Amino acid sequence: MHDRIPTRPPRSSRISGFYRLARHERLDALVEAGFIDTDQAALLAASGALLPFGTADKMIENVVGCFELPIGLGMNFVVNGRDYVVPMVVEEPSIVAAVSHAARIVRTGGGFEAEADGSIMTGQIQVIGAADIDSARDAVLEARDRLLAMADELEPGMRRRGGGAVDLDARILRDGTSRYNEMLVVHVYVDTCDAMGANLVNTMCEGLAAEIESLTGGRVYLRILSNLTDRRRVRARCRVPAAQMAWHGYDGDTISDGIVTASEFAAADPYRAATHNKGVMNGVDAVAVATGQDWRAIEAGAHAFAALSGQYGPLTRWWRDDSGALCGEIDMPMAVGTVGGPIRLHPTVELLLSILDVGSASELACVMGAVGLAQNLAALKALASTGIQRGHMSLHARSVAATAGACGDDVDVVAQTMIDERNIKVERALEIIEERTRESA
Ligand code: MEV
Repeated sequence: MHDRIPTRPPRSSRISGFYRLARHERLDALVEAGFIDTDQAALLAASGALLPFGTADKMIENVVGCFELPIGLGMNFVVNGRDYVVPMVVEEPSIVAAVSHAARIVRTGGGFEAEADGSIMTGQIQVIGAADIDSARDAVLEARDRLLAMADELEPGMRRRGGGAVDLDARILRDGTSRYNEMLVVHVYVDTCDAMGANLVNTMCEGLAAEIESLTGGRVYLRILSNLTDRRRVRARCRVPAAQMAWHGYDGDTISDGIVTASEFAAADPYRAATHNKGVMNGVDAVAVATGQDWRAIEAGAHAFAALSGQYGPLTRWWRDDSGALCGEIDMPMAVGTVGGPIRLHPTVELLLSILDVGSASELACVMGAVGLAQNLAALKALASTGIQRGHMSLHARSVAATAGACGDDVDVVAQTMIDERNIKVERALEIIEERTRESA
C-alpha cells in the first residue's frame, strides 16, 4: 500500500441543491467548500481552453482538433471517512445524478469502506520452442533473484520510489492449440507505486528477453504487461439500513430485496452480468477519463476478472444482513496512477485530480471502487422499482430539447411538454419551440 496519511483539511462533498445551481454558482460553491481556488474556477468557466492544441498535438499523432465531453461532479461521496467530490467525464445522461443520489444514501450509513492492494502489475514474456520445457521453467525460477535485479536495473527510478520488480513466476501452457503444443510464459510482478506502470513493465519485459532466451534455449516472442491486473484490486463495501432505500412509493424492504435478487440474477446469468457490469463501468470509466487513466486497460481488466472463474459474473454482490440492512461489495482490478501518462500533460486532468485530492494511486483506486459500487446501487435501485426509463427520460428529454435549439429556461419547459405528451423527439421539440416563439411574438 502507498497510502499517504491524510493531512488534508476536511471538506464536505454534500452541497445541498448543487444540481439546481447555475454553473457560476456551482463554481462559487466549490470555491467556498474548498475544492477549488478562484483561478481553477476561472479555468473551468473558460470551456474550450481546457486542452490547448499544442498540448493535444503532443499527446497523439495526426491531431486536427480536440473533442469535448461534459465534466460533471459526483457529489456526496464519503470513502474511508473522507469526503470526496468526484470528477466524471461522460456523455450518458443520468450517470452523474444517479451516482450522487446513491452516494447520498450510503453516506447516511457512514459512507463506503474501501481498500486497495499494492500496485502490483504483471508483465508477460512468452517463450516458444524450448527443447525441454520443464527444465526451461526450472532454469528461469532458479535465476529468479538475478532476473529481478536485472529488471530493476532497467528502471532504477522505481527502486528509489520504493517499488520495482518484486517476484517472478513461470507457467507452462499446454492447451494443444498452439503450434508448439506448449509454451512457457514468464510472469514478472512489478510494484509500480503511484504509476499505472504499463511502460515500465513493458521496458522490463523487453529488457529481460535475451536473458530468458539464453536460460531456456527457446525463442521469446511477446513481451508485454497483462491487463488482467488481479494483483492490483480494489474492494469497497457499503451498508444501508433498509428504510433508507424507500423511494417513489416503494418501501425499503421491497427495493432491498429487488437489489438482492438482481445480484443473484447477475451471478447466475452472463447475459445479465454483462449489463450489470456495464452499469458499474459507467461510473468507473467516467472517473478514469476525468483523471487521465487508460480506461481501456481498466475495462479489459474488469471483464477478464469477471470471467476468471470460467463463467462471466458480476463485479459486485448485494445481500441483506441479520438486521435487514442492504449490504454491497465490489471486488475488481483497478490499475490506476496518479503520476505519469497524460496526468502531467493535460491541464484539465491535473485540475480535476486536484478537485478529487487523492494522495496516492491506491486512494484513487478506493474512490473509483466506491464509485463503481454506488453506480451499480443506483441502477439496481431504479431497476428494482420504477425502472430506469423514468429518470433517463427527463434527462433525455432535456438533451433532445437542447439539440432542437431550446435555450435557458425553455429547455425545461420543452422537455416537460414532451414528457407529458410521451413524445420525446427532436421534431416535436422543434414544433414546441416554434409554437412558443409564435406565442411570445
Ligand atoms: C445503463 O447505462 C446501465 C444499466 O443498464 C445498468 C444495469 O442494468 O444494471 C442501467
